[in-house]
Amino acid sequence: MNPVSVSSPSNIALIKYWGMSDEQRTLPNNASLSMTLSQCVSLCTIESLSAGTTDEILWRTREGKLVPANASLRFGIEYHVGQLRQHFDHWQPLRIATSNSFPTGVGIASSAAGFSALAMAFALHCDQAFDGTRISELARLSGSGSAARSTFGGFVQWPGDARQLAGPAQQFAPAHHWSLHDLIAVVDTRHKKVSSRQGHHLAASSAFYPTRLDLLPQRLNTVRRAILNRDFNALADAVEREAIELHMIAMTSQPPVFYWQPTTLAILERVRQLRGEGLQVCATMDAGPNVHVLCTEQHRSLVFAALSNLPGIVRWIFDQVGDGPRQLDHHLF
Ligand code: DP6
Repeated sequence: MNPVSVSSPSNIALIKYWGMSDEQRTLPNNASLSMTLSQCVSLCTIESLSAGTTDEILWRTREGKLVPANASLRFGIEYHVGQLRQHFDHWQPLRIATSNSFPTGVGIASSAAGFSALAMAFALHCDQAFDGTRISELARLSGSGSAARSTFGGFVQWPGDARQLAGPAQQFAPAHHWSLHDLIAVVDTRHKKVSSRQGHHLAASSAFYPTRLDLLPQRLNTVRRAILNRDFNALADAVEREAIELHMIAMTSQPPVFYWQPTTLAILERVRQLRGEGLQVCATMDAGPNVHVLCTEQHRSLVFAALSNLPGIVRWIFDQVGDGPRQLDHHLF
């Protein structure tokens, strides 16, 4: 059978998914919102091998060399493929290759991009037409909830209906609706000590978690409305509040989890200062110390100029809102 290839993006959460209502099925406690990125993407190629052989799982290096996947990548892909096989009743051995357009293992969520790419490639390989809603549910089977949002471009809510926690993600505005940029300040390239999965598990041990869940529906509406109205000031206020709260829950979990580093705080402070000076900029962090600096196209150059000399930033990744996954006509092998 001919190989099938796709490209699928990462996303940055504006309202965070933190804590699960069902750890087996990877169901959240609350609806989350994200902006799909365009430059940080995973590529995935799948083809069937002849019966009786074993799966081959490959990683394409930055130099373009195909090498066997390392143990942790292999484990993640094998688990997800096991779920997809059951779903599609497709048991033939596979050759799967994957690669990322962005530095991997530096704390920029690669799982959302990687698992949404794998779900989409697998579905296409099984002759299923690409459908973001369906792929969203398949991407979640990987155990990475944020992957459920990467199957759409633009601005996305998961679950689309906040009352149906087992439901798929839904796009609520396309990428061209608002050309927001994400300047990602990488402050630490080491693997985080506490995974998102462990963080989800610990969330409920924070005394403040029930309050967070009470506050979220209103904040979700605020962020949605701010995006639909292209109201940057309203967006900035809610997005920063949300990011700080996620980390407050982590820091007050038992045992506490500290993802921030001194440079994280220095960037946050400078971003708030710049906003006070009239620039359209705000910051958010996922479960790690790296900072996503969100800004409008109009103020992007000024924002970068003001931040680029801050000490402690290892590298920058320049991204912006993107159109979501697509099928490719070239392959990784
Ligand atoms: C803080 O369980 O989706 O980024 O699979 O490790 O990427 P990974 O994480 P996942 O949890 C994401 C947690 C978050 C917030 C978010 O993306 O909504």
